[in-house]
Amino acid sequence: FLDANENSYGSPLPANYNRYPDPLQLDLKDAISKIKGVPIENTFLGNGSDEAIDLLYRAFCNPGKDNVIILPPTYGMYEVSANINDVEIRKVSLLPNFQLDLEKIAESIDKNTKIIFICSPNNPTGNSINREDIETILTNFKGIVVVDEAYINYARQKTFIQELTEYGNLVVLQTFSKAWGLAALRLGMAFSSRKVIDVLNKIKPPYNINQATQDLAFEALKNIDQVNTWIKETVTERERLSIELNALNIVTKVYLSDANFILARNGLRIGNGYQSGWFGYIIKS
Ligand SMILES: Cc1ncc(COP(=O)(O)O)c(C=O)c1O
Repeated sequence: FLDANENSYGSPLPANYNRYPDPLQLDLKDAISKIKGVPIENTFLGNGSDEAIDLLYRAFCNPGKDNVIILPPTYGMYEVSANINDVEIRKVSLLPNFQLDLEKIAESIDKNTKIIFICSPNNPTGNSINREDIETILTNFKGIVVVDEAYINYARQKTFIQELTEYGNLVVLQTFSKAWGLAALRLGMAFSSRKVIDVLNKIKPPYNINQATQDLAFEALKNIDQVNTWIKETVTERERLSIELNALNIVTKVYLSDANFILARNGLRIGNGYQSGWFGYIIKS
């Protein structure tokens, strides 16, 4: 206990935070493992899933040489982290139905393509990506396939964490920031093969999850019933809001959502037709 030069008197708080936290967060991972059914050695915890995204670039991409594929419109951090890490981004737009353009993705891959980011349910479109299409990429692409499931608790489609044993190149991202209501704690999960998880653990900052976060998340996991109630309520309200939006004159299309948000198209009546466009609003409760 003397090797890290901490303060042996304690902390000026009711709880003691004078010791550095467990760098591998084993107690918390054990509790997560009981809920997710994924072994501890296949689980990485990050300071938000954003940390896992950044570490994946650092682990698998050579700056100035390698590239990754992203599928816009999608979550912004894939591009932000690529820029920070000097990794080329190749963008293959989703099809008009917001599904994968498998042909164009295949054309964009070369020997320096190291990661493909698939967000499902996708932010900002809200839909899940077809399972068979993700499986096609997992089977045919030899690099890392990230399936970002930040909104999976709200989805009709089931998670990919059951497929981890089948695909060594699969990384599933989940987070405590959405359904679990713990965005302020900054806690994200990456599930993958042992080989990938070992690399992430090797290159992460040693104490990336602070003790307060580990303690609070551990307590929160005991309240899973509350979280499940919120998920059900959110899904019911999502369906209700979709119907209400559809009934509005200025809304021309409400897209099917598998997330806790809804994408809608507005249309301003001009003469006999509509001038269609996106709402310029992000509505928050
Ligand atoms: C698709 C997606 N992935 C990841 C995140 C970030 O998660 P975290 O708070 O765990 O960093 C978000 C947040 O909005 C998101 O929409």
